[in-house]
Amino acid sequence: MSRALVVYESVFGDARAIAHAIAEGLSDGGLGVDVVAADQGPAEVGPDVDLLVVGAPNHGFSMPRPSSREGAVTQHGAEIADPDRGLHEWLDAVRLDATGARAAAFDTRSDHPKLLVKMDHAARTEEKLLRGHGLALLAPAEHFSVTDTKGPLVAGEEDRARRWGATLARALAAEPAGRT
Ligand SMILES: Cc1cc2nc3c(=O)[nH]c(=O)nc-3n(C[C@H](O)[C@H](O)[C@H](O)COP(=O)(O)O)c2cc1C
Repeated sequence: MSRALVVYESVFGDARAIAHAIAEGLSDGGLGVDVVAADQGPAEVGPDVDLLVVGAPNHGFSMPRPSSREGAVTQHGAEIADPDRGLHEWLDAVRLDATGARAAAFDTRSDHPKLLVKMDHAARTEEKLLRGHGLALLAPAEHFSVTDTKGPLVAGEEDRARRWGATLARALAAEPAGRT
């Protein structure tokens, strides 16, 4: 059975909910799936992982970083155990022995204003970091909307995430020769 690992960062719970919905879709598509928060992520990802999916909220036109996490705490009352640990830091540090494995990225973002929504921020950086590990992208990044800084997700986004997970599973099955 092919295996997927979903690693996410989430301050207010929305990206976490999307990560779990994607995992359900992957599982429906026949994959074995693990979901883990980036600050609990494994130090090493081995060759048993065929698909790595990562996602985080947009923070200040990019992925979350220590200063933006501290901003979330001071300005929005977030509770963050360690502002120095998140998805970017995990991707920077993880040892990846998943040559030929596929990857995909997602992010969560505000659903307004329109100009902001169109811009690719966190997911683009995530894709760059994934490519830097030699991973081939299985599909373009997907973006999921929240109605406000602390959520909730726009109605229907978890269903869409489930469908996206199933689509990724089908794409992986259609291109099993990903490993080089
Ligand atoms: C410090 C901070 C900066 C943010 N910057 C952006 C931004 O640049 N673009 C955007 O669409 N949303 C921005 N947001 C809203 C977040 O994307 C939103 O809080 C997040 O998607 C919710 O996901 P979470 O519940 O997993 O944390 C920002 C939120 C915070 C706390």
